[in-house]
Amino acid sequence: MNLILLGAPGAGKGTQGEIIRERLDIPSVSTGVILREAIKAGTPLGQQAKAIIDQGGLVPDEVVNGIVKERLAQEDCQNGFILDGFPRTLPQAQALDQMGVRIDKVLYIQVPDAIIEERLGNRRVCEGCGATYHLINQPSSAGDLCEKCGGKLIIRKDDKPETIRERLATYHQMTEPLADYYRAQGKLSEIDGSTTIEAATEATLRALEGQE
Ligand code: AP5
Repeated sequence: MNLILLGAPGAGKGTQGEIIRERLDIPSVSTGVILREAIKAGTPLGQQAKAIIDQGGLVPDEVVNGIVKERLAQEDCQNGFILDGFPRTLPQAQALDQMGVRIDKVLYIQVPDAIIEERLGNRRVCEGCGATYHLINQPSSAGDLCEKCGGKLIIRKDDKPETIRERLATYHQMTEPLADYYRAQGKLSEIDGSTTIEAATEATLRALEGQE
């Protein structure tokens, strides 16, 4: 299955993507993760992306299109993949079509802005492996440390309240129209992501089985 996870920042794309990845044994390709790794490594891509991400904007289409094209050509994506955070603009969706990539389903996780702001305010990520936690909904069993690798849990730089508001504005303007783009292609499955993680997972799995 070739899947897209569409939704606002903090809608739970990464959380559900991780669960689907394990269930279907297909890789999750997150442009956000790739860009953050480039920032950490100090590569030219990372240097270009850092200020944009910290301000809640979008990295230029041609840059992320190139990243995704290269990643999807790799061996592990040949039997399916989950695209998390891509496409995020209409030109990105069109570029994906022009790459000849077949998309089977677009899982559109919907969550109201007020819930998003609370979730991202309480999100913590592992500085080592990037695992995601929530102080209340998904706490680490190791307290301030990552239960998977023992790394320190930190607040993502773009999870500051003013940056969250900017990211949400960018989302509504640039990314939300993609729902209509994929609805018109008959590929969109709408998922209520405002519930618990478990309920959102159940809805996601139902959508994957075509039972929504
Ligand atoms: P990216 O990393 O993709 O960030 P995002 O889309 O803003 O999404 P997040 O990672 O913030 O949230 P999520 O939906 O994965 O939620 P999560 O599962 O963590 O991109 C970062 C930046 O990179 C962008 O702003 C942009 O600058 C750049 N970029 C990336 N892709 C790009 C592209 N294609 N084009 C241009 N620029 C690009 O969940 C959030 C929290 O809520 C967690 O704490 C989790 O534990 C909790 N939670 C999740 N689900 C639930 C639930 N159902 N109930 C309760 N709590 C929940």
